[in-house]
Amino acid sequence: MALAFEPLTIRSITFKNRIVVSPMCEYSSIDGFANDWHLVHLGSRAVGGAGLVFTEATAVSPEGRITPDDLGIWKDEHIEFLNRIATFIAAQGSIPGIQLAHAGRKASHTSPWKGNRPLKSEENAWTTLAPASISFKETDPLPKAMTVADIEQLKKDFRNAALRALQAGFKVIEIHAAHGYLLNEFLSPLSNKRNDEYGGSFENRVKLLLEVVDVVRSVLTDALPLFVRISAVEWVKDGWSIEDSVALAKLLKDKGVDLIDCSSGGNSSNQKIPAAPLYQVPFAEKIKQGADILTGAVGLITTPQQAEDILQKGQADLIILARQMLRDPYFTLHAAKELDADVQWPVQYERAKEKKHSNA
Ligand SMILES: Cc1cc2nc3c(=O)[nH]c(=O)nc-3n(C[C@H](O)[C@H](O)[C@H](O)COP(=O)(O)O)c2cc1C
Repeated sequence: MALAFEPLTIRSITFKNRIVVSPMCEYSSIDGFANDWHLVHLGSRAVGGAGLVFTEATAVSPEGRITPDDLGIWKDEHIEFLNRIATFIAAQGSIPGIQLAHAGRKASHTSPWKGNRPLKSEENAWTTLAPASISFKETDPLPKAMTVADIEQLKKDFRNAALRALQAGFKVIEIHAAHGYLLNEFLSPLSNKRNDEYGGSFENRVKLLLEVVDVVRSVLTDALPLFVRISAVEWVKDGWSIEDSVALAKLLKDKGVDLIDCSSGGNSSNQKIPAAPLYQVPFAEKIKQGADILTGAVGLITTPQQAEDILQKGQADLIILARQMLRDPYFTLHAAKELDADVQWPVQYERAKEKKHSNA
């Protein structure tokens, strides 16, 4: 059997295969609420056979949203519809996962199809939070440098979000510490210019992420998997490096993180990304080997054979797909066919599994 279709168990959770739907912002919420769009979007990919389906970046507080249209989990009222989604995903034999996020200085923007720019004050712009008052782009409004009280509130927000995620029925939590959002901003020496115990040395810059991991891990107990998405490199000279990532992954492993989801970039407007098929896979491999921790490979993986090869070469343990899953929600079922793995189709769709020539 293809390795992509071998089950993988992490703690008490068994994934039926190693294909994962990557978190993807849908910018389709009002006041943070999930709705029919999210149910159908995530539900179809669970019907399509993925072993793990992640929600998009789900904001732990209103000001932690990239846009006013982001999904959120900052109040108990959000739980009910999220539970409907998690229950549907689980009913397809897939594992429902949620990505918890705070957008930091990249918050208070419009959605991509509404201009992808900072909100204006008449559009209810809000003050963004960051480790230091340095904006992502020179033209962006300056963020507020977080006080220690803000940091304490952030940890409470992550804790409460994790509690709600469990109530909603999610079985995996991923902490978003990549792509230049708040936790990534603390990690990077380019965006974190603090002088207190949360800035300066590597140990100080990783402190907030480790503390957030502690509060989320304690909510999950030992039973459920915890993933962290990082930007393994920053693609800028003197920025966060792969060596930093390996060192961080070791610390995260000691804190009970099970898997590092290895993305890159997003924290500097000066980044130069040599994007090409599989370009981030070497990061998953280096972190897996260097920190002896499970990793997920993501980024320009588009074919079943690429997925299988990455797993066979031991470069990563999960294959995480975003845009290919938008092109083909049934990617996983199609991949099984291509890799000659006999997987269960939804019973409702069984008659389409093999091409037969009868109408009956
Ligand atoms: C529409 C869209 C929305 C995205 N939203 C998120 C997100 O909410 N959280 C996140 O960590 N990455 C997000 N990403 C990045 C993807 O998860 C993924 O890392 C990236 O697209 C590279 O994978 P791909 O080449 O398979 O698309 C998004 C990507 C797309 C295309």
